[in-house]
Amino acid sequence: MNNYFKRLLQIFDSIINERTRLRSSSVASKACHDVLDALLILVEEENTELSFTDIQVLLLDMFIAGTDTTSCTVEWAMTELLLNPDKLVKAKNELQEVDGPDIDMRRDVWDYIA
Ligand code: HEM
Repeated sequence: MNNYFKRLLQIFDSIINERTRLRSSSVASKACHDVLDALLILVEEENTELSFTDIQVLLLDMFIAGTDTTSCTVEWAMTELLLNPDKLVKAKNELQEVDGPDIDMRRDVWDYIA
């Protein structure tokens, strides 16, 4: 497990380095204005208490907090829908209302509704 964390930290490290390089280059339009940019702006501020290591660990925190939780929730919701076909039909109708009839759904999911 330790090795996986180290590998993840290395990946975040290279993303942070690449973004830092991009931000210091003259190609300003390449800045992404995302959460990483916001954190890097904070690091650049005078008297900042935020460090690059903090950014690395924050990204790790969000990655770990946001992966299993999301996939388990989707898996649980899909299981409940398959166990309750009437709700699946309702969900399908709601999706089509929002995205139109051309919404791209996997065939095997629709087979359960038929
Ligand atoms: C369905 C998906 C998710 C569920 C069910 C979930 C659930 C939770 C729960 C129960 C907590 C603890 C709250 C507390 O005790 O104060 C928490 C904290 C947290 N979650 Fe999620 N979460 C989900 C998705 C995400 C995603 C996508 C991210 C980030 C991209 C994320 C980032 C965090 C972070 C950073 C914390 C710690 C907050 C803090 O105390 O500082 N979570 N989440």
